[in-house]
Amino acid sequence: MNRFNDVQAQLRETRHHWLVTGAAGFIGSNLVEALLKLGQRVTGLDNFATGHQHNLDQVRELVGEQAWANFSFINGDIRQGADCTRACAGVDYVLHQAALGSVSRSIDDPVATNETNVTGFLNMLVAARDAKVKRFVYAASSSTYGDHPALPKVETTIGNPLSPYAVTKYVNELYADVFARTYGTEAIGLRYFNVFGPRQDPHGAYAAVIPQWVAALIEGRTLRINGDGETSRDFCFIDNVIQANLLAATSASEAANQVYNVALNERTSLNQLHEMMRAILVVQFPHLENHKPDYVDFRAGDVRHSQADISKAQTMLGFAPTHRIDEGLQQAMAWYVRNLTQTK
Ligand SMILES: NC(=O)c1ccc[n+]([C@@H]2O[C@H](COP(=O)([O-])OP(=O)(O)OC[C@H]3O[C@@H](n4cnc5c(N)ncnc54)[C@H](O)[C@@H]3O)[C@@H](O)[C@H]2O)c1
Repeated sequence: MNRFNDVQAQLRETRHHWLVTGAAGFIGSNLVEALLKLGQRVTGLDNFATGHQHNLDQVRELVGEQAWANFSFINGDIRQGADCTRACAGVDYVLHQAALGSVSRSIDDPVATNETNVTGFLNMLVAARDAKVKRFVYAASSSTYGDHPALPKVETTIGNPLSPYAVTKYVNELYADVFARTYGTEAIGLRYFNVFGPRQDPHGAYAAVIPQWVAALIEGRTLRINGDGETSRDFCFIDNVIQANLLAATSASEAANQVYNVALNERTSLNQLHEMMRAILVVQFPHLENHKPDYVDFRAGDVRHSQADISKAQTMLGFAPTHRIDEGLQQAMAWYVRNLTQTK
């Protein structure tokens, strides 16, 4: 049985109202696209702190005008309770993605990260509770595993956080749990592990590794690896994350008020990642034939190895990832090659 197929079939039959926060960002805009393609009604909330109008424009192009008519956008800020209340009105399901990502950003400016990721999160929880939404699904993070050395990571075993960002994401879990006990709300936290795919921002000081590298490779700029390149991650293509969100929103109450790892249970080192990306891109960019990265210092706050045990999501949510890293990279690289010049 493939639960995701069933969920998609059910959604095609029935229109619900979804709120996607962070809708102009990478993961949020992909969720909006998937939901509109399933005929759902979607409200998007974003303040464009790190998101872009061009992401929404691309979704509009991809879904067509008929589906786009089911989308409404609120240019608002989750740090403002009133914006959260307005966004939650009449909503069945919340997919809360808005946050300031990046471990490095949080080390540079912990207060800004806390304001959006903790105060903003709390505002959203309160608004969702008051609007009596059916389910509040939120973006948690693998950074919550912190300094615990065990691999693969199992939801119940976490260490000490290694960055202000990690603290904020753990606080989200604590608040969601306390709200469930205190007010009877239903929330699910999805601990994403290094998500990648189309529309992930390749620009700026806090860009994630894959988009940052693809831009450097295509534009012939220096590509820096922090540390010796043996740092490893469980890279997860966006389609798997969309699946996890839709499964979490529609799962039975027994699955609620829990956190779930979302990844593949695979580990790829940065050196391997560089080689995979180079091998895909060299077909169109012959200057990458003998490309070698520059190795620089390790980065503060980075976890050395990361790999998810996904058995809990498989069992409780019916999660069945469709894209492994190589398939995901093929699709993502193709998107960057097509779009890079327009996303500056
Ligand atoms: N991308 C990953 O690998 C990854 C891994 C773990 C967790 N996450 C989490 O997933 C979520 C989405 O991340 P992403 O990669 O799509 O990042 P992103 O930066 O592309 O998207 C975040 C969106 O939130 C919006 N936002 C920020 N502050 C806001 C505010 N105060 N009010 C309203 N909107 C605001 C931004 O403008 C942006 O559009 C975040 O919560 C992030 O912490 C991402």
